[in-house]
Amino acid sequence: MERDPGEEQGDSDWVQLTELGAWKQPHAVQKDPEGREGALSNDAHRLPLQAPFLVEDFELPAGIRLKDLPLFPLWRLPLKLASAIATAAFLYTLLRDVLQPYVSQGRNDCYKIPILVMNKTLPWTSLTLLALVYLPGVLAAFLQLHRGTKYSRFPAWLERWMSVRKQLGLLSFFLASLHAVYSLCYPMRRSYRYKLLNWAYQQVKQGKEDAWVADDVWRMEIYVSLGIVGLAALALVAISSLPSVSDALNWREFQCIQRSLGYGALLLGTAHALVYGWRKWVEPKNFVWYTPPSFILATLLPGAVLLAKGALLLPCLDRKLARIRRGWERPRPLPEP
Ligand SMILES: Cc1cc2nc3c(=O)[nH]c(=O)nc-3n(C[C@H](O)[C@H](O)[C@H](O)COP(=O)(O)OP(=O)(O)OC[C@H]3O[C@@H](n4cnc5c(N)ncnc54)[C@H](O)[C@@H]3O)c2cc1C
Ligand code: HEM
Repeated sequence: MERDPGEEQGDSDWVQLTELGAWKQPHAVQKDPEGREGALSNDAHRLPLQAPFLVEDFELPAGIRLKDLPLFPLWRLPLKLASAIATAAFLYTLLRDVLQPYVSQGRNDCYKIPILVMNKTLPWTSLTLLALVYLPGVLAAFLQLHRGTKYSRFPAWLERWMSVRKQLGLLSFFLASLHAVYSLCYPMRRSYRYKLLNWAYQQVKQGKEDAWVADDVWRMEIYVSLGIVGLAALALVAISSLPSVSDALNWREFQCIQRSLGYGALLLGTAHALVYGWRKWVEPKNFVWYTPPSFILATLLPGAVLLAKGALLLPCLDRKLARIRRGWERPRPLPEP
């Protein structure tokens, strides 16, 4: 961000502090042991980090206006996106799982809102955000193939999108972790216990001795396992983005973890949601008010990203892209004389 050189001193202090990372750690600025406060207050304008300010721990130098410190600038767009997706997912699930039973059967299912509706909203948002992390890379690759060079700039919107992938990915990880905790507490709920008792009672009435449904058992074993491995992969990607870890890796190692485990997590999360859906794709009762179940909508974008990535891995495209990344350029037609 460019700044007017005529701006007041407080702003330039802020710029220097930001560049040096000092605003993250105001407590690192120590008290002046010899009490040279007056002499140092001038230096403070020039070299805020190296000048030993007389400030209390956790206080900022007086020249800095707190309101000028930007609040999470890189997180704004990802947070807005996540809120918009979560709101849409929440309203859609509310309509299908709470409003529809109330309108068509007079049944009050509001108890579903805190956990069951939330636990569809969270994974849906998480998987969509994860797809949005890897979609710009795919778009960038197709753009490079189309242009036949890596030396022309990506459009501004794509560059901006690519610059917030870390934040999108961390939000996705956070929501997936919440989803896992919500899922694991399903059996603790009183509503679940009452339902279980009711099912057992009905089974006794029907004279059924065995409630085992092999199809359902396999479905759940597989989709929960896929979810757990997917979350583990996402956790490794998140850990590798910690500065202390990424600093210990070279660029190739970092890219390898980010790409392979990131795509792995996207694949596992999508497979997890699809196996969770199992045969619900084709059961008309799941299309309430002609709306598709949420897992179908949640897997559309990730599925498209994975398919596009699969296409890029085809040898003909992969070889061409690799050449472009090494600096090769498609020969341009000579201008007509
Ligand atoms: C939990 C989590 C944490 C994350 N943390 C981080 C993080 O700390 N930092 C970070 O950057 N991202 C982070 N991400 C985002 C993501 O994992 C990375 O940006 C990842 O490298 C994206 O890989 P990509 O292949 O999609 O895109 P990129 O590797 O950016 O490639 C995009 C496109 O750029 C072009 N390209 C790539 N390499 C070259 C080259 N050598 N020469 C010319 N063109 C090239 C190609 O067209 C390519 O398709 C995180 C994601 C998650 C889920
Ligand atoms: C420990 C890890 C995980 C566990 C235990 C788990 C468990 C579950 C459970 C129980 C459901 C069914 C929810 C319901 O009944 O409504 C579900 C659905 C789903 N999960 Fe997970 N999950 C895990 C990780 C993940 C991850 C990492 C993702 C993707 C980022 C993910 C995405 C989804 C999606 C999209 C659905 C479908 C939700 C819907 O109905 O729309 N899950 N998961």
